[in-house]
Amino acid sequence: MANKNMKQQVMNGIRDKVLTLDTMNQSVKNIEYAVRGPILLRAMELERELQQGVKKPFTEIIRANIGDAQAMGQKPITFMRQVLALCQYPDLLSSPSFPEDAKKRAMRILQSCEGHSTGSYSASAGIQMIREDVARYIEHRDGGIASDPDNIFLSTGASSAIMAVLNLLVSGKGKTRTGVMIPIPQYPLYSATLAEFDAVQINYYLNEEHYWGLDVAELQRALEQAKAHCQPQVLCVINPGNPTGQVLSRENIEAVIRFAYEEHLFLMADEVYQDNVYAEGSQFHSFKKVLMEMGSPYAQQLQLASFHSCSKGYMGECGFRGGYTEVVNMDPAVKQQMLKFQSVRLCPPVLGQILIDIVTNPPQPGEPSYQQFQQELGQPADMFFCIQLLEETGICVVPGSGFGQKDGTYHFRMTILPPLEKLKILLEKLNQFYAKFTQEYS
Ligand SMILES: Cc1ncc(COP(=O)(O)O)c(C=O)c1O
Repeated sequence: MANKNMKQQVMNGIRDKVLTLDTMNQSVKNIEYAVRGPILLRAMELERELQQGVKKPFTEIIRANIGDAQAMGQKPITFMRQVLALCQYPDLLSSPSFPEDAKKRAMRILQSCEGHSTGSYSASAGIQMIREDVARYIEHRDGGIASDPDNIFLSTGASSAIMAVLNLLVSGKGKTRTGVMIPIPQYPLYSATLAEFDAVQINYYLNEEHYWGLDVAELQRALEQAKAHCQPQVLCVINPGNPTGQVLSRENIEAVIRFAYEEHLFLMADEVYQDNVYAEGSQFHSFKKVLMEMGSPYAQQLQLASFHSCSKGYMGECGFRGGYTEVVNMDPAVKQQMLKFQSVRLCPPVLGQILIDIVTNPPQPGEPSYQQFQQELGQPADMFFCIQLLEETGICVVPGSGFGQKDGTYHFRMTILPPLEKLKILLEKLNQFYAKFTQEYS
């Protein structure tokens, strides 16, 4: 029957389509991306039905499927948008509505853009001045360990940098095909990219019973098993984890580095959640810092690419697609190949690059935007008030959020136990501070 129809199509002068599900690139067909998969499509359908008045046991779809802070109502950080606006439309530089530090940043950035415009292509690895700012930021983050701007590649979100590095790494056929170790659970960019590149995915399982920890014994198990059918060459680690949220301890990172070194693996450290560490006692340690502090032979020999992004953390600026990778111990000839690859795509979006610059170069104490910037990082207003009060007057009180209060109201709690003379001074200072604070922030 199918054959008969095909003949009829040809007979009627209609040719078969060149591109069909059967003829298309099967590697692309094999890609699965759960975060935007069939559940999201159904959710969009349900949203349309709700708009048309169809009755459901709920009145809205609440999207908790993708890490898109601003889609969920988070407000952008004012300073970031001010600098972007000024860069986009430099006529605003003469407007009194923008603070001087935002103008200064914008002018500095525009100076480094081709033709002083954000509408021009940049160098393929990113604007040189921004690469230098990123390197300085990494040095500061890592307690002074050197970072070379030549090892920084700005990217279209972290995603494109992760894909670019994987693209460099995957080669071979059959049993010599590159195997890439990824955590399970993972962020689906990894499995999708490996499917696209037809690389061999090697699963290592995070230990749920141990707060989703990363066991080196499990890495070893996965690696040994995979050696039978591929050539394992890459170890990907997501720290802090997505979707698991675990934050690796320094000892754990050292063990992973030793494992990667002994097994001759290229290490990819996805650190896009480095500003999202919440658990008490947890601390983010960058793979780069730990690697460098471990010294010889690791620091000089292990090859590492680590990734960061303006999509996560307090920034949540996913739509601008800003990111970067820092490569360590990469063969200079391969670095040239990476640059060539990036050149074919011309350059990462310039506005995303600018956001990365602001992330790495935020307002400093004493600059006009500093306080607001700090406040917008999610500190509750009463906490902000109490910290400022302490810093400016030495008076120590407790924010009302610690006691519970109605939403949208802010309190602080103070005792009246100091001796009367001290209490008088305290109230006087508090009075003055309160007047100044409310004038500044209302
Ligand atoms: C672990 C992880 N890596 C990378 C990305 C991609 O980030 P970007 O928006 O910078 O491409 C995400 C996004 O959610 C992620 O969760």
